[in-house]
Amino acid sequence: MRKKIVAGNWKMNLGFEEAEQLIEDLIDLLENINMDTEVVICPPFPYLEMASDYAQESTFKVGAQNLSAFGSGAYTGEVSGAMLQSMDITYCIIGHSERRKYFEENDKMLTAKVNQAMANQIIPIFCVGESLPEREAEKHFQVVRRQVRHGLFHLDTHEFEKVIIAYEPVWAIGTGINATPQQAAEMHAYIRTLIAERYGQEVADNTTILYGGSCTSKNAPELFAQPGVDGGLVGGASLKAAEFIEICKSIK
Ligand code: 13P
Repeated sequence: MRKKIVAGNWKMNLGFEEAEQLIEDLIDLLENINMDTEVVICPPFPYLEMASDYAQESTFKVGAQNLSAFGSGAYTGEVSGAMLQSMDITYCIIGHSERRKYFEENDKMLTAKVNQAMANQIIPIFCVGESLPEREAEKHFQVVRRQVRHGLFHLDTHEFEKVIIAYEPVWAIGTGINATPQQAAEMHAYIRTLIAERYGQEVADNTTILYGGSCTSKNAPELFAQPGVDGGLVGGASLKAAEFIEICKSIK
């Protein structure tokens, strides 16, 4: 059985006290529910230690939003996988479309980041997804295939089994226009086919694939009910405790 996960990507939002308040609110809400879904929050780097401390007392896990492609040394401003591991960080988002777009992260760099995560026992939440022009040109399968193959398929089976994939169509991120449940189900099934071709059906069946892009408590129940949609990677709606927990509870 593959894991069900809802992860909140806070992006570059909230001051320290707001972040702490949000975590305290989440803890209060989590105390009253019993779910099989794993709840993950991915705050900005400076708040990770605080989040990680709180996580010791609660059921949620903590992820980073990025990590360096390098191991250690003279790389000013970078944060290494080893540093994250030393702070008990479980997950790291890699290949988010905002990093691909604004920071020009290419396939080669992302491969290196995935390797750094692996070397430090951090689980990559590897993001893929097409832009609007790519979907309109009906190139979405081709684009996602390239991203999945180039970013992940160098891993051996044992390593790949640890990876979480997030399908986030770029046109759905922060736009209020989510993919339809059918579009999400179709792409998730396609990604699973690619995994089966490379690693076999059993590995494919056990891979958690999340949907991301304008997830809300309104659309999450239908999206998460699709076969092959194992939860979500939530942006804006993860900044409000009650809304985020409603989304987490949408997985049946
Ligand atoms: P929104 O939920 O704000 O559309 O963001 C999705 C996302 O990019 C999560 O990584």
